Amino acid sequence: MDSEKKLNTEKIKNVPGRLYYKEACESTNLDAKMAESVPDKSVFLTDFQSKGRGRVGREWTSPSGLGIFMSIYLEPELFPYDICNLTLVSGLAVQKAIPKSEIKWPNDIILSGKKVGGILTETSAEGGKISRIIVGIGINVNNESFPFELSEKATSIFLETGIYEEREKLISHILKEFFSMYDRFLKEGFSAFKEEYERKCITIGKEILIADNGGNKIAKAVGITEKGELVTECDGKTEIVNSNEVSVRGLLGYV
Ligand code: BTN
Repeated sequence: MDSEKKLNTEKIKNVPGRLYYKEACESTNLDAKMAESVPDKSVFLTDFQSKGRGRVGREWTSPSGLGIFMSIYLEPELFPYDICNLTLVSGLAVQKAIPKSEIKWPNDIILSGKKVGGILTETSAEGGKISRIIVGIGINVNNESFPFELSEKATSIFLETGIYEEREKLISHILKEFFSMYDRFLKEGFSAFKEEYERKCITIGKEILIADNGGNKIAKAVGITEKGELVTECDGKTEIVNSNEVSVRGLLGYV
């Protein structure tokens, strides 16, 4: 790999645990899930993923040296519904590190109406208890183009700003935001972030298309619950939707 496209791990700051770096791997989430004797709050990074995973079984395109492909390894004691909230808080941390970005519920990072990043949280359990949480963060940073099928809804920081971003700097910034918010989340829960999340979430207040196994439905998104679910209204009825069960999009486009 081109040395100028390789991450310089010496420039990466704000890793409380250990930093694990590989030039290439299948998926940093997979590496973090399989690794042994990993200190809490460690970070897995790569320059290229051959099988990057996205939400709802999708693939995450991970071209060499252009994006951030990072998984944060955590060992907290959390209830299952807290995990969904941790994903929302992670989205907020990434959003804060990317100027002018917004959030599409639950955790797509949006820049100029297109998706610039996403988060996939995975867990592994031992004896029925959640033992590790992996927060996988993917960001399109210096991509100059996207395959045709993605170009309608995907963008990169470079495409929107015209500036090549130093990935090490952005990674360090995200980690700073993430770990300070994570510590607060463990103490105070999601309620400490709910209001800020609702402000940054462009889904709220919009007519949206909700897709689940039963088909598509139009509703208005009106808020977020304490458990990170989306509150919607349709024909005068309030309905709560869970991100594991549905996907949402705007009526006129992706957001
Ligand atoms: C989404 O579909 O929006 C979530 C995408 C998450 C991609 C990241 S890249 C680093 C980590 N490793 C993976 O295989 N996926 C996540």
